[in-house]
Amino acid sequence: MRNHLFFLSTDSHASPFDMNIALDAGFDVALPYVCVKEEQVEGLTHDIIFSRGPKGTKHSAIFVGGSDMELVEKIVKRAGDSMFDPFTVSIFSDPKGAYTTAAALVAKTGKAVGGLSGKKIVIFGGTGPVGQVAAALCSKENADTTIVTSRDKKAGEEAAVRISSVYGVSIKGAAAKTGEERLALIQEADIAIATVKAGIQILSLNELGSVKNPLIVADVNAVPPSGFGGLAPGDDMKQIAPCVKGIGALCIGFIKYKVEVDIFESMLENKITANFKTAYESAKTLA
Ligand SMILES: NC(=O)c1ccc[n+]([C@@H]2O[C@H](COP(=O)([O-])OP(=O)(O)OC[C@H]3O[C@@H](n4cnc5c(N)ncnc54)[C@H](OP(=O)(O)O)[C@@H]3O)[C@@H](O)[C@H]2O)c1
Repeated sequence: MRNHLFFLSTDSHASPFDMNIALDAGFDVALPYVCVKEEQVEGLTHDIIFSRGPKGTKHSAIFVGGSDMELVEKIVKRAGDSMFDPFTVSIFSDPKGAYTTAAALVAKTGKAVGGLSGKKIVIFGGTGPVGQVAAALCSKENADTTIVTSRDKKAGEEAAVRISSVYGVSIKGAAAKTGEERLALIQEADIAIATVKAGIQILSLNELGSVKNPLIVADVNAVPPSGFGGLAPGDDMKQIAPCVKGIGALCIGFIKYKVEVDIFESMLENKITANFKTAYESAKTLA
């Protein structure tokens, strides 16, 4: 029997990035369903699980993606609630690549510094999909974690409260609009992470040159310019300023790719439910 991946997306398209990885990882075909609404999921799931008989369920799987993280989780729950033995299939969720990217970012950074427990971590762009999952994973590793918004303090604090509640963690919120404010936030940090919108630089090389405390910076944005001046995408703990070492976007992206392949391959072997926790376990072994 051929291996079918049913790609349920909250967006108007199914990400070619995820389609490519799924097919390269061994699925024979990936079938996109776009603009999926929660109320459609039970019917879609029943069509997927019943059409090929109990034996066929091993050869069908569901991927849930798209930009609406909340809806992705609702779709995963509805799909799971619509299945029962022996009619169950694997489900893997990775909204906007956030789960696998955050998992790779946090696992790589943690490995580079010998563990995140007790570390002070500041995440610029921490209100976005990648940043909020990264913040949750850092906090779960007992790091003192702060997300930073480019808007106002209230927006940062509200986002921190929401993320803390969704993931059962405790993170702080802050705001910084200028280079000076961003520098002030990292003066006592051990690690500064950039998960900002592509193409935005958080601190220039000149600004990083003024940092006096030992600092690790990590960036996930592969679109120039990098989030931290002087940091190249392939850098792996490269010294970029007297007190600053950096991890670049491709270094993290390569681990993200391996994590996604690992999870798709596991779906072809066993029936699994994979989310950001699965991605992080995989990333810790692959980083
Ligand atoms: N390496 C990989 O494999 C990989 C995979 C997926 C994504 N990515 C990259 O990961 C990054 C994060 O992705 P995402 O989807 O979470 O990003 P996103 O939603 O596009 O943006 C993240 C945050 O950036 C902040 N932001 C927007 N404009 C800003 C500005 N002018 N100055 C400072 N901050 C600004 C926003 O926060 P506030 O409004 O609260 O400031 C937003 O929540 C992107 O650069 C993306 O390209 C990399």
